[in-house]
Amino acid sequence: MAKKILILLGSPKENGNTAILVDWFCKGLRTKNPAIEIIHTAFLKYKSNGCLACRACQKLKEYECVVDDEAKPVLRKMAEADIIVMATPLYFFGASAQLKLIFDRMFSLYKWNNEAKTMQTVLKGKTLVLIASAFEDVGLDALEKPFVLTAEYTGMKFESLLVPNAGISGAVKDNKEIKNKVIAFGGRIVK
Ligand SMILES: Cc1cc2nc3c(=O)[nH]c(=O)nc-3n(C[C@H](O)[C@H](O)[C@H](O)COP(=O)(O)O)c2cc1C
Repeated sequence: MAKKILILLGSPKENGNTAILVDWFCKGLRTKNPAIEIIHTAFLKYKSNGCLACRACQKLKEYECVVDDEAKPVLRKMAEADIIVMATPLYFFGASAQLKLIFDRMFSLYKWNNEAKTMQTVLKGKTLVLIASAFEDVGLDALEKPFVLTAEYTGMKFESLLVPNAGISGAVKDNKEIKNKVIAFGGRIVK
């Protein structure tokens, strides 16, 4: 069966560097014929600013967020995907707020038992892929850290492609070297 790949594109720029990198990445991916879906997290209609920490999801049998907005089906798709890709520009040494809005609501994809000190998650065994770019060559390692730690904590495999010196939004489109690197990376992700 074709691998399911869900791409969360977390830039507010519809045709910016992040979108261009995702487009090249998909070119590489398509050599393996996976089922690809791209969600622009900046343009979803949210009823909450990120996770409300209501913990209502922890009382459900299902791994679902109780906030009934356009992020809810995206979280469901994350639970069903084989590979989750998060693509973001570097914003002040971290991921974009537009990606974090969904990222923190992954809380609903875990069940914690604090007394027993156990955690279960539907994300276990998946692959998390990070694609991030920056204007300069400082800070992408800081951005990457929470993704590495989340993958470790969750039991996900982790892959990343960090693109420093990508220029201002949209400028990366003329960089053939980066283009080839990203396409090759996409070709390696589906085993
Ligand atoms: C709010 C904001 C913060 C940024 N912070 C940084 C930064 O800390 N370091 C850096 O090198 N580039 C920074 N940049 C530049 C972007 O990370 C870079 O141009 C990125 O490739 C843009 O991707 P996009 O076109 O998808 O938005 C920032 C840009 C914006 C708009």
